[in-house]
Amino acid sequence: MAILVIGGTGFIGPRLMRRLVGRGETVTCMDLNPHSVSPFAAMPKEVTLIRGDVTRFDDVMRTVLQVKPDRLINLAYGLGAGEGNPHQVMRLDILGMDNCFEAARLAGVKRVVYASSIAVSGQQSHFGDRPATEDDPPHGTSQYAVHKAFNEFQAQKYIKNYAMSITGVRPANVTGPDKVRGSTDHVQLMSEAARGKPVHLPQKGRMRLLIHVEDIAEVFARVLLADAPQHALYNSGGIPASLGELADIVRELLPDAKITFEEDGGRAESGNYLVDNSRLCKEFGIEYPPLATRVLEILNDVRREEALPLIRAR
Ligand SMILES: NC(=O)c1ccc[n+]([C@@H]2O[C@H](COP(=O)([O-])OP(=O)(O)OC[C@H]3O[C@@H](n4cnc5c(N)ncnc54)[C@H](O)[C@@H]3O)[C@@H](O)[C@H]2O)c1
Repeated sequence: MAILVIGGTGFIGPRLMRRLVGRGETVTCMDLNPHSVSPFAAMPKEVTLIRGDVTRFDDVMRTVLQVKPDRLINLAYGLGAGEGNPHQVMRLDILGMDNCFEAARLAGVKRVVYASSIAVSGQQSHFGDRPATEDDPPHGTSQYAVHKAFNEFQAQKYIKNYAMSITGVRPANVTGPDKVRGSTDHVQLMSEAARGKPVHLPQKGRMRLLIHVEDIAEVFARVLLADAPQHALYNSGGIPASLGELADIVRELLPDAKITFEEDGGRAESGNYLVDNSRLCKEFGIEYPPLATRVLEILNDVRREEALPLIRAR
């Protein structure tokens, strides 16, 4: 099957493409920066790389006509681009996504998958102590969250008006050794500790819903390769943990880690961290490894990169 991955040379894309290639698919990646891949995530040599700008409809359409994909996924986004550049971010998030939907419609691409985000749900306080579902109304107020909510709205329009197969996945807080955009406090905590450097973060109680980058790549692969998913939207879910709890897991593995916090609070102001992902788990057989397993992997990924001795599980 021919698969086009747009925005594939970032954090999640190379891990997704490695899985697709491993399952025998023919993968093309269109990205603004097709050759800048993190040292932690090698680009599979089988992937055809094309330089293209998702905000330019002619780039997207030309690539879709050239590749003739059976499946298309868009990962290009203004992650962590801040709220200070509304025009440019709107072009990437809103126009870029719509260019993918429209080019797929015109070329008759059978299935489209796109990344939404847990940010759509907004603060956990909107849900009290219960997990948010895909059917809850969006409460996110950042530009990023509102753009993701609009992408979901637009996907529904294409599904309704043109009977297209478009599926969104809302990843939680993706974590891994080389994450540099979006929520990065959890990454900083683990990677600085792994390097033997002190790390000081604002709030010990700040909650995150953590999912390892390899796990979200597997989620995208399964949803993308499915012929007819039962739903238009899936929460990835993840493992809820405060930064204080994450620090405790790191200290179990690295007793000398110097992790400190400015204050204990943060839980009440946290984004959505209780998420019902039963839809995804039941339909796609998804199960995540324990957090401590993934933390150990991340610590050792960083230590390998720094040529430091690896840590063994206790
Ligand atoms: N990483 C997370 O924690 C997380 C959480 C929730 C949702 N998501 C969503 O998952 C998707 C992928 O996330 P990621 O962490 O891999 O992002 P990333 O920022 O690492 O990768 C995005 C890729 O898009 C490319 N890109 C940027 N502008 C482009 C343009 N104009 N044309 C073509 N390509 C362009 C970048 O070069 C990069 O390779 C995004 O939609 C993101 O919002 C990520």
